[in-house]
Amino acid sequence: MNIPSWPVAGEREAELLRMVLESPQWGGFHPFVAEFEQSFAAYQHATHGISAFNGTVTLELALNVLGIGPGDEVIVPAISFVSTATAISRAGATPVFVDIEQDSFNIDPERVRGALSPKTRAVIAVHFGGTMCNIAEMSRICREHNLLLIEDAAHAQGSEWNGRRAGSFGVAGSFSFQNGKVLCSGEGGILVTSDDKFAESARSIANCGRIPGASFYEHHRLGTNFRLTGFQAAVLLAQFERLPEQIRQRSANARLLKHLLRDIEEIVWQAQAPEVSQNSFYLLIGRVRGPSGARDALHSKVTAAGVPCTPFYPHTLFANPVFQRVPCRVIACPIAEQSIRDAFWLPHRVLLANETTIREVAAAVRSAVTAELISTRC
Ligand SMILES: Cc1ncc(COP(=O)(O)O)c(C=O)c1O
Repeated sequence: MNIPSWPVAGEREAELLRMVLESPQWGGFHPFVAEFEQSFAAYQHATHGISAFNGTVTLELALNVLGIGPGDEVIVPAISFVSTATAISRAGATPVFVDIEQDSFNIDPERVRGALSPKTRAVIAVHFGGTMCNIAEMSRICREHNLLLIEDAAHAQGSEWNGRRAGSFGVAGSFSFQNGKVLCSGEGGILVTSDDKFAESARSIANCGRIPGASFYEHHRLGTNFRLTGFQAAVLLAQFERLPEQIRQRSANARLLKHLLRDIEEIVWQAQAPEVSQNSFYLLIGRVRGPSGARDALHSKVTAAGVPCTPFYPHTLFANPVFQRVPCRVIACPIAEQSIRDAFWLPHRVLLANETTIREVAAAVRSAVTAELISTRC
C-alpha cells in the first residue's frame, strides 16, 4: 500500500538548513528562531512564541513560570502522553487524573468539576489527536474557580474552536515538534501565550535567566537552557509552509475514509464538537465495538494489510509504573480504562495518501471488521 512516509522534506528544508550551516549562529538564536516563533504564535492566534527543544520541557517551563509546585494540584485527563502528567510531578505538584468523554476521547469537563479541591491551581487540557477538547467549558470552569488553564496542544497545530486556534485559550499553549508531529523538526517545542508577563518570564527562564538589554553573563532568574537551534528553526520554517495544505488534505481524506466506512457499525470514530472548525488530524482515532479482543484482532489484521495502526496507549496515565510510586490522585476513570482495551489510531501520514490508497485503507479496515473474529452481527 502506498502510505507516505513521515517526515517529508524537500529543497526548501535543504536551502534553509544550508543558510544556518553557513552562518556563525548554529545555536544562540539564529534569526530563524525568532522568525519561526513569531509566525507560529500568530498562526495559533497568540502574541508570543517561546521555543524550546521539546514539548515536554515547554510544559515544565509553563508550570515553572506560573509558580506551580509542592502543595498544588493540577487536573489532567487520564489519557495523554506521559509528559502531560510527569511535568506536574517534576514541578513538585500533584497530578489529579480525571476521565475522558466517551465520544471525543478528551477531558470531560464534568469530571474536572468533580475533581476540584482547595489545592487545585491549574488544569492541563489536552486536544487529543488534534481534536479540540471542549475548551469553552474548560475556560469557563477555570474562570469560575480562579484556576490557571494550560493547553497541551502537542497534537493540535492548526486546530480550531469556532475559528480560534489551539493554545490561544489558556494562559499558555504547549506544542511539540517531535518527529511524528504534524509540524516537526525531529525534536522541538514551543509555548504560545498572549500574556506579556508570562512571555517575558518564560523567555528569560528558558535562556539561563537572561533579560533583554542586559549583558550576556548577567542572570536575573533561576533559569535553564531550553534553546532551540537554528537548524531546528530552519526545518520548522520549511515544514510550516506545507502545514495548511496538509491539514486540508488530511481533513478531506478523514471525511472520505469515514464516508467509505459509514455502514461499519463496529467502528465508532472520535467525535468532534460542532464548534471544531479545523482539526489537525494528528491521529485518526476509533473505538471497536465487539467482543473482548476485537480491537486487537482489528489491529493485527489492518497492520498485516500494510496500514500503520497503533492499539492505543497500553496504560491510562495513572496505571503507568511511575505513578505507583509518584504521588497522584485518581478520580474513577472507567472510560479511559475502556479505551485502553477498545481504541486504536491511524497516524496522520495515512491521511496524506492519495485517493486510491485511501480506498485501499478503507477496504483493509472493512475486511478486518467483517472477519469472523470481530463481527458481532452474525
Ligand atoms: C500530548 C503530548 N504532550 C506532550 C508531549 C511531549 O512532547 P515531546 O515529545 O516533544 O517532548 C507529547 C509527545 O508526544 C504529547 O503527545
